[in-house]
Amino acid sequence: MNPVTASAVDVKADFPVLKREGPDGRPIAYLDSAATSQKPLSVIDAMSSYYRNSNANVHRGVYGLAQEATDLFEGARERVGAFVGGETPTTIFTRNATEAINLVAYAWGREHIGEGDEVLITHMEHHSNIVPWQLLCEERGAKLRYLGVTEDGNLRLDELDEALASGRVKMVAVVHVSNVLGTINPVAEIAARARAAGAACLIDGSQAVPQLPVDVAKIGADFYVWTGHKALGPTGIGVLHGRRDVLEAMRPFLGGGDMIASVGFESSTWNELPWKFEAGTSPIAEAVGLGAAIDYLAEIGMDAVRAHERDLTAHALESLARIEGLRVFGPTDLDLRGGAVSFEVKGIHPHDLAEICDREGVCIRAGHHCAQPLMRSMGVAATARASFHVYNTREDVDRLAAALGSAREVFGL
Ligand SMILES: Cc1ncc(COP(=O)(O)O)c(C=O)c1O
Repeated sequence: MNPVTASAVDVKADFPVLKREGPDGRPIAYLDSAATSQKPLSVIDAMSSYYRNSNANVHRGVYGLAQEATDLFEGARERVGAFVGGETPTTIFTRNATEAINLVAYAWGREHIGEGDEVLITHMEHHSNIVPWQLLCEERGAKLRYLGVTEDGNLRLDELDEALASGRVKMVAVVHVSNVLGTINPVAEIAARARAAGAACLIDGSQAVPQLPVDVAKIGADFYVWTGHKALGPTGIGVLHGRRDVLEAMRPFLGGGDMIASVGFESSTWNELPWKFEAGTSPIAEAVGLGAAIDYLAEIGMDAVRAHERDLTAHALESLARIEGLRVFGPTDLDLRGGAVSFEVKGIHPHDLAEICDREGVCIRAGHHCAQPLMRSMGVAATARASFHVYNTREDVDRLAAALGSAREVFGL
């Protein structure tokens, strides 16, 4: 690995799966990192080494092996928290971002949301940041409200103050970077405005942590969630960062082993943070893998990661603009967007586009991207989407453009 400056990030060789050949015999161009990222060898090795050399259950054993597993697990937590400016006790491991949001909706939401209250989300949320609030609002007799999205893919922040002025909004839950439009939302400002209006704030950083420098302390939301597998880590682990006073005041989410201080016949008392929210055996190898993933990203430097994705996004926007009948969704200002580029090509269904790209070894996604309300507000049923990570190159983008050209030929356009 030799990541010196932004444009010199050249790490494809660290990702074994990218050597895989597509149907045309060339190594694949993987452009679906917004769905899940590929994993560098260091992550695969860290997990394999954990199982080969250090596997034991954590927190319980007094023997050396169990102590070693605990140190690896808790060491990963410390580094993962620090990676995004969080503190160790308020860095809670979950299964994924979805579970982290559900944790907040259940454990915080059921204590704080009642009849007539409002939860404010946006039209650009992933289903993971919609459905838990729908369930909560339905159960509590509360109302779910939405901020809209402008034609050019930005959040209607002008609607925020009006929504907050009702005095009934108790939670504002907003995505940091849209998985469809790529939009980077001003989350620190949103969190501050929510707080000023007496509402709590949750930020979904699933697409942000993998590609931007993120500082949860500076953002200042009550909750910030993300998911390991999009940040070069394994599946099966996500992260919830919360404000300490808020987490301490919350009831647990799931009950079971590890999250208790003591268990009596009738009732129990709760463990300290972060374990109060980690019932049952933890994703130990996954935490070790996530620790290796953020070490890898930190070595490159998140400023360099962001600059690299920005370069690829710029190249993609330029290349796609040359294709007749192609429309890109989302902001065109590179300062306002990350590396997920959704588009449609007139006369070709997104699934056909993805299928034809696959023939040339170009992996893109097609569908609603778990954002059906956003699709509806954009007036489309589905889009095609290319998304980048640190291992992609300008050549991958050129192959996408070529494959889209082939698709137009296949359709006689
Ligand atoms: C913005 C956003 N939020 C949440 C999620 C859910 O992530 P997970 O399925 O890992 O919980 C995704 C996954 O695509 C996402 O893009």
